[in-house]
Amino acid sequence: MTDIDTKNTIDSMLQEDRCFAPPSEFVEHATINKADDLNKLYQLANDDYETFWATLAHDEIDWHTRFSKVLDSTNAPHYRWFDDGTLNISYNCIDRHLIERADKTAIIFEGERGDIQRLSYRELHSAVCRFANALRLHGVEHGDRVVLYMPMVPEAVIAMQACARIGAIHSVVFGGFSAEALKNRIEDAGAKVVVTADGGYRGNKIIPLKAACDEALSHGCESVNAVFVLKRTGEDIAMTTGRDIYWHDATKLVADDCPPEWVNSEHPLFLLYTSGSTGKPKGIQHSSAGYLLGTIMTMKWVFDAQDDDIYWCTADVGWITGHSYVAYGPLALGMTIFMYEGAPTVPDAGRFWKLCQYHKVTVFYTAPTAIRALMKAGDAYPGSHDLSSLRLLGTVGEPINPEAWMWYHRVIGKERCPIVDTWWQTETGANIIAPVPGVVVTKPGSCTRPLPGIDVAVVDESGNVIKEPNKGGYLVIRKPWPFMLRAVWGDEERYRKTYWALFNNKYYVAGDSARCDEDGYYWIMGRTDDVLNVSGHRLGTMEIESALVAHEKVAEAAIVGVPDDLTGESIFAYVVLKGDRPIDGIDENLTAELRQWVGKQIGSIAKPKEIRYADNLPKTRSGKIMRRLLRTIASGEAITQDTSTLENEAILEQLQGKQ
Ligand code: WT7
Repeated sequence: MTDIDTKNTIDSMLQEDRCFAPPSEFVEHATINKADDLNKLYQLANDDYETFWATLAHDEIDWHTRFSKVLDSTNAPHYRWFDDGTLNISYNCIDRHLIERADKTAIIFEGERGDIQRLSYRELHSAVCRFANALRLHGVEHGDRVVLYMPMVPEAVIAMQACARIGAIHSVVFGGFSAEALKNRIEDAGAKVVVTADGGYRGNKIIPLKAACDEALSHGCESVNAVFVLKRTGEDIAMTTGRDIYWHDATKLVADDCPPEWVNSEHPLFLLYTSGSTGKPKGIQHSSAGYLLGTIMTMKWVFDAQDDDIYWCTADVGWITGHSYVAYGPLALGMTIFMYEGAPTVPDAGRFWKLCQYHKVTVFYTAPTAIRALMKAGDAYPGSHDLSSLRLLGTVGEPINPEAWMWYHRVIGKERCPIVDTWWQTETGANIIAPVPGVVVTKPGSCTRPLPGIDVAVVDESGNVIKEPNKGGYLVIRKPWPFMLRAVWGDEERYRKTYWALFNNKYYVAGDSARCDEDGYYWIMGRTDDVLNVSGHRLGTMEIESALVAHEKVAEAAIVGVPDDLTGESIFAYVVLKGDRPIDGIDENLTAELRQWVGKQIGSIAKPKEIRYADNLPKTRSGKIMRRLLRTIASGEAITQDTSTLENEAILEQLQGKQ
């Protein structure tokens, strides 16, 4: 963890006084629409939070064998919930709806090119069973890891559910990650099988997923013995005999029923890799029962899940949002989800609104970066579509600036739809701080209050709760919750160090700074570690630095985040070359080469927006790179920090681009 400057960086400058009561039209039909009902939930949770969660787990999950133990803290900070129960997640998301909702649409899908597919719960059941049988036939068993590298098509959800059905642990790798990133994740997870597609459509291009997969598997990845390939684009691809098999062939001759494997509540449902403050992404391990409960409860509390909703969460299944609010939560409640494969701007910036209109989307959940991009495109796009089906809007991934919030509220929601700003993380599994929209008054830019049963606080360096309103500190969670992460795959030390060490295992440390206002509303202020948030996606500065120094011409690199109108933060790289600094610090070819290189090592989202070459980096006499100084320089602000401890003060001119 880097130094956290409580005096300067953490004191908040933001003043936002606007308040929005839940619109009456929404309140009328909302499931939780009385303050008393919500207060009762808080009361129950406060009286006895274990019983509170146990009751919900009993009521909301279909168990194979019921649990008798609620919370087991014996091995804290590895907490176990509902430990002696057994269940199957896919059974809970599909089979249990077959009695009453077999013909209800589970998934509506539209591809970037306009192809539409609909799958009923009965059809979803059969597709999941077939693929589960195919996996079993290829030797995938309880506890085996399966890596998915897929486009945003129904088969991505089908493959996740199929893994859950047989107790295999999936690890979805976002299709925008490079071959190298894929390889690292396959190896870390020790995956037996990879599921991919010939390609996917995005931004009027074909993403060559199978080619990247072949490259990843061409060196290392010894654990992999089969690759399933979905035909999506029909492009010519290489197939390796004995290893690669087409999805449609694999699912042809298998039965369309597959008995679910009953797993323990604590059985890992999935690993999902996320960036941290070291070079290597970490495999966040989630449980089965506790995780499922989190997705169900937050779908009800925050998204006011209703039977006739068409629920659209725009996140890719490669991120946690696509796990909890595409593949699991809404299906566990028997809802209809909408999935879209492509970019929001194809063929134009009206695509999302056209999709909302055509498919009659009722709940729409997206990221601030998308909202800002669509806002920039102008009001004519949403203005020319009928958005009257919408009743609730959501946002996630980074703090939403009040201007974007107001636009979302006014132009998309027509002041009829509450906005749920949901704070959570890959590690928390589901929403943690978010409004219950039929009751809670919202303030643009605040994720409002922690959900019932979740004990959030802002604490100072010594771990004391900051009582003074609006004073920033570390955001922590003080009690375990059912949908919390269980481990970092294969790295116990990192689990303890990253999330628990700072306050001696007492609190879960989120890595965000936050403040709490006089009404008990939380305002997220940014990360306290070396993690950037670019378009709502987490990227470790060290991860990008390691990628840069792996290039033969680079001696040293420092990455900082710079505020960006569209993406929240953008990546700024300071690079010291092994050879001479380019004349005037400019070498466009090398800059293009390095950006390309980072794209290849990690993925396009990690490409630095700007690269500045220097003879060396500003370091303290003890050799520590002065990141805060670099950040100031990159933002073009005047240097107010004390630079007297700098080893080479003369470098400042050069870093500012003045030489
Ligand atoms: C980090 C987690 C959870 C899904 C998306 C990202 C930031 C997330 C908000 C929000 C302010 C937010 C935090 C957090 N963040 N939601 N509503 N307001 N900041 O998941 O990649 O695990 O990133 O995203 O900094 O720690 P993730």
